[in-house]
Amino acid sequence: MRRDAIRFLRRGRQVELKGFDPRTTLLDYLRLQERSTGTKEGCAEGDCGACTVALGRVRDGKLVYEPVNACILLLGQIDGAELVTVEDLASDEALHPVQAAMVKNHGSQCGFCTPGIVMSLFTLYQHGQRPVSRESANDALAGNLCRCTGYRPILDAALEVCAEGPADSFVATQKERVAQLSAIADDEDIFVGDEHRFFAAPASEASLAVLYARHPDATLVAGSTDVGLWITKAMADLQNVIWLGRVVDLDRLTVDAERVSIGATVTHARAFSALANIDPDLGEVMRRFGSAQVRASGTVGGNIANGSPIGDLPPALIALGATLELRKGDTTRTLPLEDFFIAYRRQDRTEGEFVRGVSIPTLKLDEAFRAYKVSKRLDEDISAVMGAFKFTLDGRTIVDARIAFGGMAGIPKRATLTEKALIGASLDAASSWEAGFAAMAQDYQPMDDHRASAAYRSTVARNLLLKALSEIAHGRTDATRLVGQRETLQAAE
Ligand code: FAD
Ligand code: FES
Ligand code: FES
Repeated sequence: MRRDAIRFLRRGRQVELKGFDPRTTLLDYLRLQERSTGTKEGCAEGDCGACTVALGRVRDGKLVYEPVNACILLLGQIDGAELVTVEDLASDEALHPVQAAMVKNHGSQCGFCTPGIVMSLFTLYQHGQRPVSRESANDALAGNLCRCTGYRPILDAALEVCAEGPADSFVATQKERVAQLSAIADDEDIFVGDEHRFFAAPASEASLAVLYARHPDATLVAGSTDVGLWITKAMADLQNVIWLGRVVDLDRLTVDAERVSIGATVTHARAFSALANIDPDLGEVMRRFGSAQVRASGTVGGNIANGSPIGDLPPALIALGATLELRKGDTTRTLPLEDFFIAYRRQDRTEGEFVRGVSIPTLKLDEAFRAYKVSKRLDEDISAVMGAFKFTLDGRTIVDARIAFGGMAGIPKRATLTEKALIGASLDAASSWEAGFAAMAQDYQPMDDHRASAAYRSTVARNLLLKALSEIAHGRTDATRLVGQRETLQAAE
């Protein structure tokens, strides 16, 4: 079964849209077609949050609202969701509690960022832990820039309104909304357009395999946090788009004592706790991954498939020994994740093949892991260098090592010579680590670019190795970290 329209919920009504261009962003739809101009365009690249809206979807029987950047989300991606914009919060009689708190705390000056901030706070208000901590409020707002108010009044508003559980019209009508969303859910493939220009959203892996084999030139879209920028910044004329977000089989997340298996379309937000449970450092990397908006849309599969040399997850997952699963037609294959990355932006993926998921071994008792992201800004920034380390120990001796870096080569790359040089090194003798530092110069010849110079990257990579070894040797991080102390993170679990 196939339908030629997307369906979503808007202000209590079901909306059906046909015949839209596959490149249409949600922001363009809102501002140019629906004329809901409360949602603003600032950067058009997912950085400023002025375009933040909320999407509600039913998960495990509950309605979950997540913030997304409408500027880079494709219109077709809202199929099956409830779309909430800033115009929808106040009633005729009163402001929404989040808006009232912003007014009371003087959280707005020129007001350009305010709709986006209000929408981010709306999603925090619906779901954050109570009472919400300043750290969680900061995390929720990391994807919203305000150039004139200053963040203190906005944070005050967040802490005040999220001191207690939510009590608004969205909570009061949740049952009806869940029923309405369930009524529009189906397992039909979507195909809007014709064979020459379409937005398609297959509902099963089998449909995806057939469609992609027929249109291997189509652009696969998962969260669109990369692809969206091809449209808004590179003006790419994507003619055929296949959105993976309806493929139920790719949305699986399974966790057992040995492995965490993550389907390609699992978002960073959903993968967060499973990854953090492997190791708190991975949790800290994920906490700093983009923003709440980017984590709500962006996927683990997209972060791997895009082949970026500065993606955050690939180095960490390579160090952990992850394997990648791909599928083309009826054939699937697996390979060590590091082998997927061949050369700059070239991956081991044949025409018509797609990523199914990644399988990550959990840590054993004799293994120690560390991962560090180094970027110019702490939050909402891409890495200059991302280093990940896994050491297998026999007592205090390193008997095996897996080390991988992002930002040090044209691909996420293992430091194979460094790994070898460290075998036999003792955690008690820092002099035995020197061979590892020396080998690192052979493993990597990083490039200069606007994020960092080659010399800076080499120095940072060496120092991250030193930091990992020192932390593991001494079992402490208070001398080596300003933020993200493992001890604090572990205690919070
Ligand atoms: P999409 O944009 O949907 O796709 C990306 C690429 O992968 C496309 O080429 C697409 O065709 C392909 N693709 C997607 N899924 C599959 C599949 N299953 N099989 C085959 N090909 C597939 N990245 C970081 O690593 N760390 C950050 O901190 C970070 N911060 C960001 C902040 C902002 C503001 C933005 C806009 C981006 C940021 N990114 C960051 C980059 C991006 O968000 C991530 O790489 C994200 O994981 C991409 O996933 P996606 O699902 O959105 O991919
Ligand atoms: Fe800046 Fe969308 S307009 S994040
Ligand atoms: Fe002016 Fe935030 S109030 S940008």
